[in-house]
Amino acid sequence: MAERDIAISDTRQPLGPLAERGWSLHCGEGVDADATVSELSKLGDRLGTRVPGRAGSLEEVIEPQGTDDAHPRSLSARYGLGALPFHTELSHRTRPCRYLLLGCIDPGALTAATILLDWRTLGFSSQELDLLEGTAVLVRSGRRSFYATILAPGGVFLRYDPSCLEAVDKRGRIALALVEDRIAAGSPQVHHWHRADILIIDNWRVLHGRSSSDRGSGRRLARILIDA
Ligand SMILES: [Fe+2]
Repeated sequence: MAERDIAISDTRQPLGPLAERGWSLHCGEGVDADATVSELSKLGDRLGTRVPGRAGSLEEVIEPQGTDDAHPRSLSARYGLGALPFHTELSHRTRPCRYLLLGCIDPGALTAATILLDWRTLGFSSQELDLLEGTAVLVRSGRRSFYATILAPGGVFLRYDPSCLEAVDKRGRIALALVEDRIAAGSPQVHHWHRADILIIDNWRVLHGRSSSDRGSGRRLARILIDA
């Protein structure tokens, strides 16, 4: 898998690149955590309405977590401090949030990079897109589990998260394996965090993951999720 470092977008126009390529990097001027969080909130409010994350909070600070500390159905519960696989944020909701905003409060000593991959660059043929759009898989979310397709009608978003998607038949297994294979062969972009960096990700278009981390590295990111 070839990885490329991502370039910094024009900090005055952070939302232009977001529309063009599905993500945008904004170098904040925040000197402390509060300034970064407030800038994150301002950008988020320009994009839409905030929605709560898995823990029910509108604004979260995330740190790499070991398997024991994580939400039982989260990726961290399964992968811990190892690399987190590519996924769509809030895949376990019927409609995943549109945007994901991450702001770096502290990059930590051994920084864990965030990696981005636009699913439209994965080379799906029209037949494969039909398979992804026409095959139901089980989305596990406790009592609120439901069936959905990996690709939403019209290709509006791709739902992918190995911790909550499960095939229920052969077609489902083929569809999930197809996405997994293309992701493995994809060319993601890598962001190494610096304090006050803000990454805005179009969650309907760009999958994100994390390189492996280290407990106590001190990396702390503020996260807000936006519906639009
Ligand atoms: Fe995530």
